[in-house]
Amino acid sequence: MDFLYNDVQNMLRDSIRKFVEKEIASYTSEWEEKMEFPEDVMKKLGENGFLGIPYPEEYNGQGLGYQEYIIVLEEIARYSASLAIAVAVNGLPQLIIDKFGNEEQKKNYLPKLSSGELTGAFALTEPDYGSDAKSIKTFAERKGDYFVVNGTKRFISQAGVADVYILLSRTKNTGSSHDITAFILTKDMDGVTFGKHEKKMGLNATPTREIYLDDVKIPAENMVGEEGFGFKIAMMALDSGRITIASTAIGIAEAAKNCALEYAVTRKQFGRPIVDFQGVSFPLADMETKINAARLLTQRAAFLRDSGLPYTKEASMAKLFATDVAMEVTTNAVQILGGNGYMRDYPAERYMREAKVMQIVEGTNQIQRLVISRLMIKEVSQQI
Ligand code: CAA
Repeated sequence: MDFLYNDVQNMLRDSIRKFVEKEIASYTSEWEEKMEFPEDVMKKLGENGFLGIPYPEEYNGQGLGYQEYIIVLEEIARYSASLAIAVAVNGLPQLIIDKFGNEEQKKNYLPKLSSGELTGAFALTEPDYGSDAKSIKTFAERKGDYFVVNGTKRFISQAGVADVYILLSRTKNTGSSHDITAFILTKDMDGVTFGKHEKKMGLNATPTREIYLDDVKIPAENMVGEEGFGFKIAMMALDSGRITIASTAIGIAEAAKNCALEYAVTRKQFGRPIVDFQGVSFPLADMETKINAARLLTQRAAFLRDSGLPYTKEASMAKLFATDVAMEVTTNAVQILGGNGYMRDYPAERYMREAKVMQIVEGTNQIQRLVISRLMIKEVSQQI
């Protein structure tokens, strides 16, 4: 076991830090306030290789792993959770096409999704089916060389901005998860329109919108993997996605802890810095401890993934723990800043709003507990 970053990981962390300090740190508040997605910065992330970390070099990736990818995501999330989510969401079509796509699909999409020339998103959730993902109703009817698709997707991160979507749709109606198929949908296809920009508690610099699919003709060649294999593809992609959400949450928590620590050593009350009071320093100690524990859990899930070992349970544990830690840390950071914590002049309240959604996206933390407990039961059943 090795708990230290290797040379490549150290270099990567230094270079993403430099990028973030130059291109992101000073602009986040403005993007959030104006509800503006920084498409130019996303493109620059791609041009600098940060969007292609865990993908093969032959498709313009860096040929590294999730252990490196989470370093990048955490650093981005420390300054812009919106951008980190955009990168994580871009990763879902990347990993699905990389793992399940045919050669043509890989050649057409992977290099551009890594370079930032195209951006991607993931369309699973529907107005009536969120946690119960296998009940989705969007339907794709085969007509010769095309599938004609009708339905509505909801709460889609990066909808309207993203060029390429992995769309999950039923291609049969028996009610089984084996009816669901994955397709590559592009935003320029006839019949694709987007709903209003949802007004959200946080992550305002990345759009969340509905996608309406009205007789959209998707070429059969855009099917990813086999017909009826889409639900498994979505679940496997979410296993990986949950690691990226964990690292995003750790980035938010780290930023909140640093903000609270700096405040606590400079703010004076009763003639001393407030950090002299254990009511302030002990919560800071808990923050540091829990963030480190969350990071180790996330690194372990990433390590298992990179090693080709099962990691579904570990990814859910990392997502569950890291996002709950982020919620606790950001709430306590607001408390340490007192009245200033509640004001928009300080970033603490933004971190708290951003942490909340991490407990919801890519499977609520109740769903993570379901996944973890089901696997525990399966493991013990195999032993007895
Ligand atoms: N890997 C591979 N296959 C899997 C799997 C996994 N991790 N999880 C389930 N499956 C397979 C099962 O083996 C089963 O296959 P068979 O029928 O061949 O045996 C099939 O999928 C159905 O599985 P279940 O019976 O377990 O399905 P379920 O409905 O009981 O539970 C669930 C599944 C875990 C609740 C799942 O629906 C789930 O994860 N729901 C949450 C959805 C979610 O995370 N949405 C996030 C949207 S994307 C997002 O948030 C992005 C963003 O905007 C930031």
